[in-house]
Amino acid sequence: MTHSAGILGVGAYVPETVCTNQDIVNRGVNTSHDWIVERTGIHARRLASEHETTTYMSEQAARKALASAGLNPQDLDMIVVATTTPDYRGFPSVATQVQVALGAGSCPAWDLSAACSGFVYGLDVVTRLIESGGYQRVLLIAADRLSHRVDWSDRSTCILFGDGAGAVVLGRVDTGGVVATALHADGSHGSILSLPNDPPYIDMDGQSVFKVAVNCVVPSVLEALELAGLTVSDVDWFIPHQANQRIMDHAIKKLGLPADRMVCHIDRYGNTSAASIPIGLAEASAQFKSGDVVVVIGFGAGFTWGTGVILWQ
Ligand code: UT7
Repeated sequence: MTHSAGILGVGAYVPETVCTNQDIVNRGVNTSHDWIVERTGIHARRLASEHETTTYMSEQAARKALASAGLNPQDLDMIVVATTTPDYRGFPSVATQVQVALGAGSCPAWDLSAACSGFVYGLDVVTRLIESGGYQRVLLIAADRLSHRVDWSDRSTCILFGDGAGAVVLGRVDTGGVVATALHADGSHGSILSLPNDPPYIDMDGQSVFKVAVNCVVPSVLEALELAGLTVSDVDWFIPHQANQRIMDHAIKKLGLPADRMVCHIDRYGNTSAASIPIGLAEASAQFKSGDVVVVIGFGAGFTWGTGVILWQ
């Protein structure tokens, strides 16, 4: 027997420290507020302090998601954390550290690495686990702390990234929920966006990333909508990965969606990598109505990308 999986609760956490574009100029970076706004749409981002580790941000987002689902940590039967900035280079995973911080018993806990697509990759896998009947209530967190992985003298990358975490609790629902997901990867584009061991900073060919991203978003959304038996005109809310306002604007224009259906927070938080979609879900979900069609699209290093279509309850 198959089951349906839906989102039972959402939550997000962003660090307290606000870093404006002017703050970056004040750090001695050869850039300007106007350039950053015009090319990216970013006005500010949040920077994690020492205590705001990936585990800490994940735990805070998770507590809010559990509260909004009306569940306790002990109700979970799995924890998945999508991140490419874990606190330990290899292990233990962030998920196991979150498990102990929450007091979530001994449920399985593991990290998933798909860069900015991590949330959508997790949504796909966790949905299928719940549909199979093997798991009932899974905490999916997406968290990144990329501000500690940028070279602050590289003006093409240090302006882009911010830190944060978002979380959802996924569980069995009778109707609706996650009705389609479609994932892809093309490793031949690996070199255009990488985080090498040495030097341990993001290395990005911004123009190439921009082009690949623009080309994958619309086909991915159309593929997932078709799998769901829906069309663009059914979409109530569109939550793209917040990488660059121009990529997002291009996507809705090509799809023919009105601008007010798109959830945007890049102006305030910059590119928060895997966390950007669940932060958007957490911030916008108060406006969602039962039955609304919510489309989430992630894309990023690897190159990886994927779309999820959710029938909101
Ligand atoms: O999650 C995925 C993560 N990554 C992305 O999504 C990145 C996608 N790419 C982008 O967002 C854009 O390519 C950037 C915002 C990174 C760069 O914008 P662009 O319009 O593609 O600029 P560009 O790389 O073509 O550079 C144009 C000029 C260059 O100067 P010259 O060679 O024309 O004299 C750059 O050196 O802008 C210069 N530039 C800057 N100027 C002021 C690059 N970064 C900056 C800066 N401030 N921060």
